[in-house]
Amino acid sequence: MSAHLNEWLNLILRWLHLVAGIAWIGSSFYFVWLDSHLEPPKENKPDVEGELWMVHSGGFYLVEKYLIKPGWVPDKLHWFKWEATFTWITGFFLLGVVYYMGGAMYLIRPDAPLHKHAIMAIGLLLLPVGWLVYDLLWKYVFANAAKVGAAVSYLLTIGVAYGLSHILSGRALFIHIGALFGTLMVANVWMRILPAQQKMIDATQRGETPDYTPGKRAKQRSMHNNYMTLPVLFMMVSNHFPSTYGNQYNWLVLAGMILVGAGIRHFMNVRTPFSRFTLTAAIAGAFALFFYTKPADLPPAAVQQGNTPAQTVTFSQVQPIFQNRCATCHSAKPTDDVFKTAPLGAMYDTPEQIKAYADKIKTRAVVSKDMPLGNKTGMTDDERKMIGEWIAGGLKD
Ligand code: HEC
Repeated sequence: MSAHLNEWLNLILRWLHLVAGIAWIGSSFYFVWLDSHLEPPKENKPDVEGELWMVHSGGFYLVEKYLIKPGWVPDKLHWFKWEATFTWITGFFLLGVVYYMGGAMYLIRPDAPLHKHAIMAIGLLLLPVGWLVYDLLWKYVFANAAKVGAAVSYLLTIGVAYGLSHILSGRALFIHIGALFGTLMVANVWMRILPAQQKMIDATQRGETPDYTPGKRAKQRSMHNNYMTLPVLFMMVSNHFPSTYGNQYNWLVLAGMILVGAGIRHFMNVRTPFSRFTLTAAIAGAFALFFYTKPADLPPAAVQQGNTPAQTVTFSQVQPIFQNRCATCHSAKPTDDVFKTAPLGAMYDTPEQIKAYADKIKTRAVVSKDMPLGNKTGMTDDERKMIGEWIAGGLKD
């Protein structure tokens, strides 16, 4: 498929995904906020559990929360389900366009020990298999042991991330764990939360007192979704941040970011001494990750050996590397079979262009090594080292 068509598919899907995701996460944030701000009704309204006045766009709004009681169901009920569904569908196709089409260049770790097709199969199977394992565990094992369940689920996630880090590129790893979380969240909505609500409504309609157990289970799943939101949002934007996914132990960075996100979310949900602690810990964790992911200073360019000053790497030594390993894509006239225009406009045809990008080149080709994309041009570690030394040596001509 032409790179241009691919780019536009990517654009349209990403746009839709973002819009649907904002609608979903936005309504979810809104309801959590609403529930925690309801006040007891001022007048005597026996069926109303809580109410809240709000001002928005030229009017006052009154929200009243009614408990479900036998024999009464409002005529017209609005369900929130399509926001989640569209987010998942657009996300799934976006995953396909970015990671599975065009030779799966973004998907695979260049030195992965498995065949490309095996890796693609694992990546796609992760979603349904992940859901099955999660759902069975929470149905039969952890339903009444939420804390142990949360810890085990977290460790399982990290284990999966660790395993995948051997076959997926850093950014594919982050996005796949994000897609897994997104899948769990949508499946929770459709298979656990909505059916439970429907059951309770059906019972009330028959004039019976609803059995609240499925409702409680649904609440548990809804809580999971709540704590997954911030980590998922991080994973969605993470592919712009090579210092996170490009780290040698990227699965560990991911593990940290999941805790940071969940810790902040906890503080957004409730205000307790423990939630203040999780917020503080999350901020401290983010700082720790900042320092942990900071690229090490490169080795000094010229190591003094005895009295003879060692050689400094010069531009004429690294120019052929850029020519052979990068300019097939990063050029005014790329020769790559997929990229017909320079990616992100980054061109390395002249010394000035290369020097202007030195910082980013260090990040992508020396530290995180996620360039050349999929190591398509077969760059060697010695070449990376040489470029690193040239940059550390102050970009000598
Ligand atoms: C097969 C094509 C291909 C090759 C070869 C390639 N790149 Fe890239 N590069 C891309 C694509 C696609 C992007 C944009 C997506 C991204 O940021 O990953 C990119 C982005 C970049 C960026 C980020 C630019 C910015 O403005 O943020 C840098 C830096 C970079 N490449 C450096 C290199 C270096 C250095 C080499 C050679 C050692 C190289 N690339 C080889 C495809 C390639």
